Amino acid sequence: MAGITITGFNHVAYPISTRQKTLPFYRDVLGLAVIPSMVDNVEVIWTQMDSGSMIHPIEAPESGVRGNFHVAFGVESVPDAIASLGASGVEVTSSGDRHDGQEFAFISDPDGNRLEFASVNDRKTHGRVCDEWGTTTQGDGPPSRHQNAAAPIRILAVEHVGVPITDRKRSVAFYRDVVGLKVIPSMVESDTIVWFGLPGGEMLHLVEAEAGNPSTYHGGFTVPDFDAAVSTMQGLGVNNIRVGDRLDDRSALHFDDPDGNHVELVSNNPARLGHRVADEWGYTKDA
Ligand SMILES: [Fe+2]
Ligand SMILES: [Fe+2]
Repeated sequence: MAGITITGFNHVAYPISTRQKTLPFYRDVLGLAVIPSMVDNVEVIWTQMDSGSMIHPIEAPESGVRGNFHVAFGVESVPDAIASLGASGVEVTSSGDRHDGQEFAFISDPDGNRLEFASVNDRKTHGRVCDEWGTTTQGDGPPSRHQNAAAPIRILAVEHVGVPITDRKRSVAFYRDVVGLKVIPSMVESDTIVWFGLPGGEMLHLVEAEAGNPSTYHGGFTVPDFDAAVSTMQGLGVNNIRVGDRLDDRSALHFDDPDGNHVELVSNNPARLGHRVADEWGYTKDA
């Protein structure tokens, strides 16, 4: 049976109200580059961080509603992933390929969280161009990339994605045995979070939460200067700021984007590992 070979996170999708209201936050504060969208849906904006991973703000009728979030794993082969999911009895709800040849497939996890599996970007020339608002047209110009050099923060990479679950054993079995992720020790003192490691070092955190609580869903992104990021967010007066230290010596800053989506920024220092142990369900204690 072909397996799912996950390479990292291709993108995280956040439902936003309008691009006029919220894209400036991602582009001009968080420093993401706006790049051409490879889908025909005009509501989808493609933005990219230095690592190549993306955030897709999507204009949605209801921002901050859980069903409109999704996370996309990068995989070596989408056909192999589809075959593996089928062998596990998981229904692929849609699949296809995009203007740049990127292949994709969508499924739902046991709680109905939307998951996507995507191949690498830019598998063929596409000629698509966009303006600084992400509005994309078919053209024949050079690749466009709109990045604000004056942005006070510059997101580097996805560190983790947090996904809400309601039944720990059901979800751990799914992410471990069907998706193929590895349970690793949690670096926070909590019995309601399960940490998984991806091969490239990124992580997925399953968070036991009340069903339908949208603020559980979030991306955690590394930044080069954590203290500066905290000052910036405090200065902007964004909502729900929380700062904390993890047991792996990384620091985390949580806040809401202009539409109430939960965003986390993480310090980029090396993580201290090896001092905690987890059982097969992710319950963790000091070694
Ligand atoms: Fe997506
Ligand atoms: Fe997090």
